[in-house]
Amino acid sequence: MRIKPHQQVFFSWFLLLFLFHGSQTQPSTTGYTCTPNQTTYPCQTYVFYRATAPNFLDLASIGDLFHVSRLMITQPSNISSPSSPLIPYQSLFVPITCSCNSVTATFGSLSAANLTYTIKGGDTFYLVSTRNFQNLTTYQSVEVFNPSSVPTRLKIGGEIVFPIFCKCPNETQAKTGVNYLVSYVFQPYDNLSLVASRFGVRTHDINSMNGNKIHPFDTIFIPVNKLPVLPQPKAPSAASPGNAEKKRAIVGLAIGLGICGVLLIFFFAVLLYRDVFSKKRDMERPEDNQKIQFNRPGMLMKGNEVNLMADVSDCLDKYRVFNIEELREATDCFNESCLIQGSVYKGSINGGTYAIKKMKWNACEELKILQKVNHGNLVKLEGFCIDPEDTTCYLVYEFIENGCLYSWLHQNNNGKLNWKTRLRIAVDVANGLQYIHEHTRPKVVHKDIKSGNILLDSNMRAKIANFGLAKSGCNAITMHIVGTQGYIAPEYVAEGVVSTKMDVFSFGVVLLELVSGREAIGEGGKLLWGSVNGVFDGSEERKVKKVKEFMDGGLEGGGCWMESVMNVMGIAIACVNKDPRRRPRMVDVVYALSMTHDLFFHVSEDGLSPPLFPR
Ligand SMILES: *[C@@H]1O[C@H](CO)[C@@H](O)[C@H](O)[C@H]1NC(C)=O
Ligand SMILES: *[C@@H]1O[C@H](CO)[C@@H](O)[C@H](O)[C@H]1NC(C)=O
Ligand SMILES: *[C@@H]1O[C@H](CO)[C@@H](O)[C@H](O)[C@H]1NC(C)=O
Ligand SMILES: *[C@@H]1O[C@H](CO)[C@@H](O)[C@H](O)[C@H]1NC(C)=O
Ligand SMILES: *[C@@H]1O[C@H](CO)[C@@H](O)[C@H](O)[C@H]1NC(C)=O
Ligand SMILES: *[C@@H]1O[C@H](CO)[C@@H](O)[C@H](O)[C@H]1NC(C)=O
Repeated sequence: MRIKPHQQVFFSWFLLLFLFHGSQTQPSTTGYTCTPNQTTYPCQTYVFYRATAPNFLDLASIGDLFHVSRLMITQPSNISSPSSPLIPYQSLFVPITCSCNSVTATFGSLSAANLTYTIKGGDTFYLVSTRNFQNLTTYQSVEVFNPSSVPTRLKIGGEIVFPIFCKCPNETQAKTGVNYLVSYVFQPYDNLSLVASRFGVRTHDINSMNGNKIHPFDTIFIPVNKLPVLPQPKAPSAASPGNAEKKRAIVGLAIGLGICGVLLIFFFAVLLYRDVFSKKRDMERPEDNQKIQFNRPGMLMKGNEVNLMADVSDCLDKYRVFNIEELREATDCFNESCLIQGSVYKGSINGGTYAIKKMKWNACEELKILQKVNHGNLVKLEGFCIDPEDTTCYLVYEFIENGCLYSWLHQNNNGKLNWKTRLRIAVDVANGLQYIHEHTRPKVVHKDIKSGNILLDSNMRAKIANFGLAKSGCNAITMHIVGTQGYIAPEYVAEGVVSTKMDVFSFGVVLLELVSGREAIGEGGKLLWGSVNGVFDGSEERKVKKVKEFMDGGLEGGGCWMESVMNVMGIAIACVNKDPRRRPRMVDVVYALSMTHDLFFHVSEDGLSPPLFPR
């Protein structure tokens, strides 16, 4: 492993930062730790939230923000009607579900309520945390919970998890009647004894829960056995709506102006405060939103780099760290002539040839998955590189000489593949898939199996590439559909169900490509897997006739045993079943294909006619 001097400096700084984080229990910028074995998790709890102009002055938008109904806010907050308008700074209790999330090895388990937020124009992690969520989370914690999102390149409409700080009472607290630990953001103008009396608890209780050093804008947890009753303004009389509205506007304006004045005073107070308190937060407060300024001249790191390093530091030992100059030299400064496909370059470094993939910052996911897998039928990752200038990440793979299966099947420049080779490719890919489905913990779903992601080496053995979309963990539901048209399983498109069976479906489509030599999507958008409906209906003769029609014309006559093609066709049709439960598992597919393969080779090498093969 090679590390350049500036990287070493960075690592030691990172280590310092990490130790600093570790030694300080509370408050923490990345969140509050929890032990996963604590039996009181998950729990229902509340956050104290203040209505604010202009966007959060009605229950509907606050409800949307926290994914709760208006009624779920009005009841605990002592508000008579869900349609009541709110006034700025009106106090509310919003329910959340608090859980203990094991996020990364570095940060351990963090206690938080995951709230999904859809990014709008102008949003940054910092703005949404401090403005919309009123400092109930921090942008640092958001980064930890969204390792694959680039804070500087948020997509409008993209979904980000905002971890709202919360805690569940521990066993001892539960025994003494503490039912909720209400999350409360301590304000610069707050006086601890007043906060305590508002919640009906002793100052001592708050201190024993949160320590003695409470800074403005820290989230503190207030132990209560029941929620205090909030004093709420009287609902305006509905006598004359026009008048009421005008009155409301005037009241709003008056309160607004009052608050402005108060805010102005506090603004100066805060300025004074900041110099004295919260040195740590200051040090990490973002300069132009996403940068972290270290107390050292010339050290300017982007927040996401810290984050990525935290994640990849686990696997630094296993992989070579390339430096950007090496990659530039290897690819002639990322010259287009070195492009193989998409954003993958070919380059040679110290005599070795590599495929160098420029990532759009989803590198973490792919790195995390690749470090878990190691199999002859999966493309091997050799190392990676992070460009210190723009934090672009490059993954460096073994170079696979013969390109992808897609170009062998559908682009004439390579010459035809015979059936023997196609069958072996099928077995190789099936083996690779079986490995990621059965032998990794948690299971990995590739999510984008297609002939374009199957590479052929110099011996025409197949390897699966491109784990960029892969997901660990199964039977998850996702709202964000990825994958390639023509290969995507119908249940994934319809419901977003992620399971190993979606890879089985895509693999079925690849088998159909191998048999037919046609593309997964034909002219006019015709789906290849749609065209095999009814092929296996009727008599044996009709099946053979239908399969012959479907088959790649180039295969016939070239020692292609119909029996073996029929077997593969049978497997392919089972794989593209619309009902995922009725698709075979990859283990079954490997078994069936290996049988077909052995049989074919045995027969073709001995020159005997094939014995009957049960279908
Ligand atoms: C929970 O885990 C911690 C550390 O992992 C351990 O010290 C503690 O005894 C465990 N508690 C229970 C109830 O298992
Ligand atoms: C959140 O905290 C920041 C400082 O860390 C402060 O500037 C901002 O006003 C706070 N937001 C709210 C809604 O209190
Ligand atoms: C919350 O989000 C984190 C990171 O995205 C994830 O690891 C965790 O499982 C989630 N927790 C819940 C309860 O969904
Ligand atoms: C908080 O308020 C109480 C009652 O108004 C007062 O006695 C106390 O001195 C205040 N504490 C601080 C730290 O301002
Ligand atoms: C429960 O929490 C309280 C307050 O933080 C703490 O003093 C106590 O030690 C905790 N008890 C256990 C068993 O962790
Ligand atoms: C709710 O708020 C109103 C108005 O401040 C107050 O009069 C009432 O006592 C509160 N409590 C309940 C339980 O309604």
